[in-house]
Amino acid sequence: MKRVGILTSGGDCQGLNSAIRGVAKGLYHEFGDNVEIHGIKDGYRGLITGESKLMKPSDFSGILTEGGTILGTSRQPFKLMRVIDEESNVDKVKSMKENYQKMKLDCLVVLGGNGTQKSANMLREEGLNVIHLPKTIDNDVWGTDVTFGFHSAVEIATNVIDCIHTTATSHGRIFIVEVMGHKVGWLTLFAGLAGGADIILLPEIPYDINKITQTLKAREKSGKKFSILAVAEGAISKEEAALTKKELKKARENFPYPSIVYRIQKELSAVVENEVRVCVPGHFQRGGDPCAFDRVLTTKLGAAAAKMIKEKNFGNMVGIVGGKTAPVPLEEVAGKLKYVDLGCDEIKAARQIGISFGD
Ligand code: F6P
Repeated sequence: MKRVGILTSGGDCQGLNSAIRGVAKGLYHEFGDNVEIHGIKDGYRGLITGESKLMKPSDFSGILTEGGTILGTSRQPFKLMRVIDEESNVDKVKSMKENYQKMKLDCLVVLGGNGTQKSANMLREEGLNVIHLPKTIDNDVWGTDVTFGFHSAVEIATNVIDCIHTTATSHGRIFIVEVMGHKVGWLTLFAGLAGGADIILLPEIPYDINKITQTLKAREKSGKKFSILAVAEGAISKEEAALTKKELKKARENFPYPSIVYRIQKELSAVVENEVRVCVPGHFQRGGDPCAFDRVLTTKLGAAAAKMIKEKNFGNMVGIVGGKTAPVPLEEVAGKLKYVDLGCDEIKAARQIGISFGD
């Protein structure tokens, strides 16, 4: 009998259930009745506390199109994994290893982003058989062309920009749409391009507020009564980019705004004619059904994971490399972030058609 544990960890996204389904159906195909799948509750938290449930094939039916995760998820920061919890005195790594042994697992499949991947690599170093599937709306996992959740979130953020476009046009307003992504701007870049934003601000390209003003004034002058800015949560000004990490942290602690878009709103309101408004779609971007692309992607990743378990090919992320599923060693990718490549086609095309990055 093969025993496989599966958990979803970190911020949720679209496609988690379809990935779980892909892994499960792939495993039943590879092993028939000779496999037990243990669903671990709420990510690594359930592995630490030993909360899991033996799943039935019917548990994986009808979930292809469902958002969220049937297993639940939680954030368990990697940097705290080896820190003994003072209150409970729990050694998390030891507990996870013990629960893996108690369940008699042959492999643990973890669905998650960067933090999840680092913890998966740590468990690999601790001797567990681990396979990682890359999920996140941020698309920032190193070593895979794409993560699942990304394209679904792009659809939602694009739809927000589309809707904002019509109301911005009617009222002749400037709208700043805050798109998720604290460290990496792929989602903002794609949604900004797809939604026809006039200005796109990414964490990777520090902005100059004067450049943004110039673009807005030039649009005003040419008779354009509205403008749309797609701004990543982690957008940063040139002045802030010149600070040390510590200085920036301090400056942001004393920040009088809920987020960066509100400061940009205040600064622009002082210098442009039009009214400047903010729209924050927030967690909408992570919710709802996976798009068709993500359903196909997760089915491919899940089936490939099952095959890798059959082949005992552990210690890998199942990545998409050059459009094809491929095992990518965790030790090579864990801890690396896939930032927006400033020379990528999307950035080049945006600049060529006159979209400003505020730089
Ligand atoms: O990593 C996915 C993500 O949605 C980011 O885009 C966002 O900055 C962050 O998670 C928000 O996390 P939380 O839901 O924990 O506030």
